[in-house]
Amino acid sequence: MSDYEFDTLQLHAGQEGSDPSTRARAVPIYATSSFTFDDADFAADVFSGKQQGNQYGRMHNPTVQAFTDRLVALEGGTGGVALSSGQAATTTILFSLARPGSNFVVSKELFGGTFAVARKLLEPWGSSFIAVEPSPEAVAAKIDENTVGVWVESIANPSCSVPDIAAIAKLAHAQGVPLIVDNTWGCGGYICQPIALGADIVMHSATKWIGGHGTFIGGAVIDAGSFVWSEERFPAFHKKDPRGKTYLDKGGVAPFAARAYDLGLFTMGMTLSPHSAFLGLQGLETLSLRVQRSCDSALELATWLEKQPVVKRVIYAGLPSHPSHEVAKRTLQHGFGAVISFETQDLETAKSFLDNVKLASHLANIGDAKTVVINPWTTTHASLSEEARRAAGVSPELIRLSVGLESVNDLKQDFAQALTRVKVA
Ligand SMILES: Cc1ncc(COP(=O)(O)O)c(C=O)c1O
Repeated sequence: MSDYEFDTLQLHAGQEGSDPSTRARAVPIYATSSFTFDDADFAADVFSGKQQGNQYGRMHNPTVQAFTDRLVALEGGTGGVALSSGQAATTTILFSLARPGSNFVVSKELFGGTFAVARKLLEPWGSSFIAVEPSPEAVAAKIDENTVGVWVESIANPSCSVPDIAAIAKLAHAQGVPLIVDNTWGCGGYICQPIALGADIVMHSATKWIGGHGTFIGGAVIDAGSFVWSEERFPAFHKKDPRGKTYLDKGGVAPFAARAYDLGLFTMGMTLSPHSAFLGLQGLETLSLRVQRSCDSALELATWLEKQPVVKRVIYAGLPSHPSHEVAKRTLQHGFGAVISFETQDLETAKSFLDNVKLASHLANIGDAKTVVINPWTTTHASLSEEARRAAGVSPELIRLSVGLESVNDLKQDFAQALTRVKVA
């Protein structure tokens, strides 16, 4: 399959031909917790890893496997794991790499939920985050002998800043550290391909553009298969299990995926349901078409919003005014993402805009086929201190806008009427 282009892979990867047992063309929803074994020897072989087979639904399900394989193909990885949410993917990656005393050098603009995992789980357990400006120099300066990962997002929320993934990967590798990219805003690999730029581990909240219709919660971890796991920094990868095997033995070309499977599915049980995986597969089939449309509309809307008198500032990496514009041009493809942030006059005008939009939905999600808006200051980022919110690029007057698939003219009309109800200072 790997010779096919993205548009073909999003339809066919993970399912060759039709379903082998029923000839169903769509991937069926295998709604079962368990699978029978042909005989006792086969059962023993499946459990020991000698033969491929479905052991138990917490770890194995053919619908989930097809979804996982399709995403791995789209991101150019060698293996992966689908999980019950983006948060589950984050938790799995962090605990797959961390050991007490270790640290992660992370972008200070990471999604708040990622910092929550660090604060509530990782730190009490003895590992920590070192948050820096996501520039290659700032990241490299903080890596030390206990660093077990560098973590950035392909496009940050809500500042829309784009890190130089290729340069950061090079500097992290020079110090023996893997680069993890949360590629949620990179839209399933269509807008950003972190592995091609040098990243070692990619994660997604599949809840967003991958599903694309706001119908389920899901996540994924993808292994580039290229990182060399040194024994000093990553002892867990070299430790033999009771059968005498390490993750390097078990994972083959995807050792990180083997560890993520063991921790995220087998141990923590953060399993994606086959029903959700089916919705994910449906979403992936039209991924490039949907995302292209949203990104084209986003660029048009960003340019239009810049001209509106009530709008103080538009934040979108597709605009030459954005500090990341040049980096974004070489790091992203097909467009600059589907989310725009913009500042109105103050918090009251931001609230008035939200109360007056009719077509756009006011809710806490992104990546839906329908356009959505929110004020991060009072909602998604409200649990952070004022200082932390400002450091993440969140001001009281900010609106985050995830552009959907509606007619861009209708969206402009909706925003124009909502903005005219806002008093100009
Ligand atoms: C960039 C990013 N990463 C991770 C997550 C967590 O994903 P989920 O909500 O699917 O758990 C989100 C959710 O908003 C996100 O925006």
